[in-house]
Amino acid sequence: MNNGFGFVNLDMRKKIVAGNWKMNLNFQEAEEIFESIIDLYGDEDSENPIMIICPPYPFLEVGTDLTDELKICIGAQDVSSHSGGAYTGEVSAAMLDSMDVEYCIVGHSERRKHFNESSALIKEKVEQLLENDVCPIFCCGEQLEERQHGKEFEVVKSQISESLFHLSKDEIENLVIAYEPVWAIGTGLTATPDQAEEMHAFIRKLLKEKYDEKVAENMSILYGGSCNVKNAREIFSKPNVDGGLIGGASLSPDDFYHIYKSF
Ligand code: 13P
Repeated sequence: MNNGFGFVNLDMRKKIVAGNWKMNLNFQEAEEIFESIIDLYGDEDSENPIMIICPPYPFLEVGTDLTDELKICIGAQDVSSHSGGAYTGEVSAAMLDSMDVEYCIVGHSERRKHFNESSALIKEKVEQLLENDVCPIFCCGEQLEERQHGKEFEVVKSQISESLFHLSKDEIENLVIAYEPVWAIGTGLTATPDQAEEMHAFIRKLLKEKYDEKVAENMSILYGGSCNVKNAREIFSKPNVDGGLIGGASLSPDDFYHIYKSF
């Protein structure tokens, strides 16, 4: 298949549906959601698409315990930029790795906005994760005003180049990118499948220019922002969209499983 940027070998690329629970649920509710998702997931044996669940830190262990024998993966929502020591309240990448946490979201727009996370800080977090064999799910995406001013490509290009382009080819291959237009997060306003496809193709082109065709074609690029049971299938059908990073809808086991089955 040729998408205008060269040959696309989709067999090499992993399809992924990841749920970001954000700061929701108490322990009992989290346990119940894990159990319901596991019931729906049943004895699926396929690693493609990959299902990832990213609960808040205190619920990671119940997640890794309950999914131990399954192909479901557990991810964290953030990580410290420090490797360890006197940083009260922080959680290191080495701690995540020691708990069998395989993925970690970094650079989410909510952290960029509410916790003033800069591209430089996110770059350090990405490095910590890669050094500790935890796969970063790197989020990027423009604000509404930036899109209104036609700056969406420029913004995404700087976010990616400032936090990722110091990585070697071998390093960047161990990462997943999530395009989450900020205006679509939690608003019910979804990017159209064509808008998502256009940005994903652009990101792949950036990777091809900076690295090579193989890196670009093998990168899983997820869409996030009001993705739900109604729109997932159409968004996931686009050739450069490899799945989704799901917020609100991931709190409903039925909806999340339905989205997972939407390829
Ligand atoms: P919503 O699916 O609730 O819009 O959230 C998307 C998101 O931020 C996932 O990281």
